[in-house]
Amino acid sequence: MAAILGISGLYHDAAAALVVDGTVVAAIQEERLSRLKNDPGLPRRAVAACLRLAGISPQDLDTVIFYESPYRKLERVLRWLLQSYPRSVRHFSRALSVQLGSKLWVLDQVAELVGVPRARVRCVEHHRSHAASAFLLSPYPRAAILTVDGVGEDVTTAIYRGNGTQIELLGSLPYPHSLGLLYAAITAYLGFEVNEGEHKVMGLSAFGLPRYRELFEKLVTLHADGSFELCARYFEYERGGELGFSADLEHLLGPRRRPGLPWELAASSSDQRYADVAATLQTVTEEILLGLARRAKRETGEDALCLAGGVALNAVANARIAREAGFSRVFVQPAAGDAGGALGAALLGAIEAGEARPAAMQHAALGEQVSLEQALGLARQLGLSAERLDDPARTVGELLARGSILGVCSGRFEWGPRALGQRSLLALPKESQTRERLNRLIKQREPFRPFAPAVLAEHARNFFTDAPNDLTPFMTSICSVKPERRANLAAVTHVDGSARVQTVTPGATPLLAAVLSELNQHTGAPIALNTSLNGPGEPIVAHATDALAFLSAHAIDGLLVEDCLFRRPN
Ligand SMILES: [Fe+2]
Repeated sequence: MAAILGISGLYHDAAAALVVDGTVVAAIQEERLSRLKNDPGLPRRAVAACLRLAGISPQDLDTVIFYESPYRKLERVLRWLLQSYPRSVRHFSRALSVQLGSKLWVLDQVAELVGVPRARVRCVEHHRSHAASAFLLSPYPRAAILTVDGVGEDVTTAIYRGNGTQIELLGSLPYPHSLGLLYAAITAYLGFEVNEGEHKVMGLSAFGLPRYRELFEKLVTLHADGSFELCARYFEYERGGELGFSADLEHLLGPRRRPGLPWELAASSSDQRYADVAATLQTVTEEILLGLARRAKRETGEDALCLAGGVALNAVANARIAREAGFSRVFVQPAAGDAGGALGAALLGAIEAGEARPAAMQHAALGEQVSLEQALGLARQLGLSAERLDDPARTVGELLARGSILGVCSGRFEWGPRALGQRSLLALPKESQTRERLNRLIKQREPFRPFAPAVLAEHARNFFTDAPNDLTPFMTSICSVKPERRANLAAVTHVDGSARVQTVTPGATPLLAAVLSELNQHTGAPIALNTSLNGPGEPIVAHATDALAFLSAHAIDGLLVEDCLFRRPN
């Protein structure tokens, strides 16, 4: 038996993943358990949960692998600081203390955290972790692999060829030329939190026009070979800038948006300019990614593409790559960001230990099981009613058809940032008022953020173009809602007619699939609005305690935990 634990952390999205005998046994983001969104620490709770799920102890682990090299990262920081000396001198000690204070000794910390001898802990390269997380769990025996993120060690973008268990580096782009950092800088400019607000920028982009192409050409230069360069004067990275962009960027694009102000997207409002900036950023991002993907196609000649890195969470760009880059199939592993590095690191360790390639990823239910017993105990204390159901999917389908908004907790929680039916809030997708009600009752989201539909995979093509495909099971792409269906899918159709579709199969998500079948009987469409079960700014719920706390705090119509429906007192 070979048991390999992968770990990411100390930046954002701490996570742990465990591969035993070549099979992914568990993969868990720390935020789900610590309840700290994008938890930047080390994944103490996630490691313990992975070991518990496998029924093994730390001594049983053959290898523990950290998802990036702290030494190469230190080298990059030092090099950058020396290059920008003497301007950088006041940040020197801070940058070094961040590096030396924790990250350089991370492998020692990991050994202590997990409880294994230091000799069993090692690291792999950041982008190789990303590449492995996508390719080794993809349905393709061979593929081109493109990884794009903020920065990992000193690389921001890399192209690989995957063949069986081999992952061969073909080329990379160096820091600071980074699509992830460009997206992050504009995210901050638009008043959103970096590493959190990027998907808001993507949603906002549909409300604007890419009017600022010429200005963006000053920020980033695209080359014919697919590579690109950022113009340093507009960005502030290692020099201690809190926002990631310089005063020059505001001179170029106008004053930044103040965080937290309510959004008003009328044609004449000042927010329209920000929507246009978002639209320009999104267009430029798509063009850069298309250039890179086409280069990957030219260099590998492969038919399939695997994408990873934080930028691969851009579902709108992924859809364009799938359509326009020349590949016939595209796959993105659901935790495409740095959490996914933990999974990639564990898989690389398993391959090195001589394990066969794992089966393609069928579902993302790799977290801990929800406990009905715990839910029942807690419900009594909270004064919530509990009703055991003979046929939970039938009851949930009926209630949804009558307009209820219901939470569901079923089985193990999801891996990655999307709720895929294991910890979801469900509603009818028909009325746009549903969106408003959800926002008012629970989500308090910006008005431009869309809700997403879950549809039975076998019926998907009746409602959406391009679905199902290899991206839709994990919501890593968008599809177009067929024009004649939009009136009945108003709550899940974005302003541009797109939807971030999840295609559902009984094998991957049994409860949700059964609920959608039931909805089909009532409404003629096996589709539900599916959004994550969490309050504003919170991680998605993991355990029954989180779910019942959510039910107590929010006026939803009920919460299903396994086969039991919990309700608030009238
Ligand atoms: Fe990354």
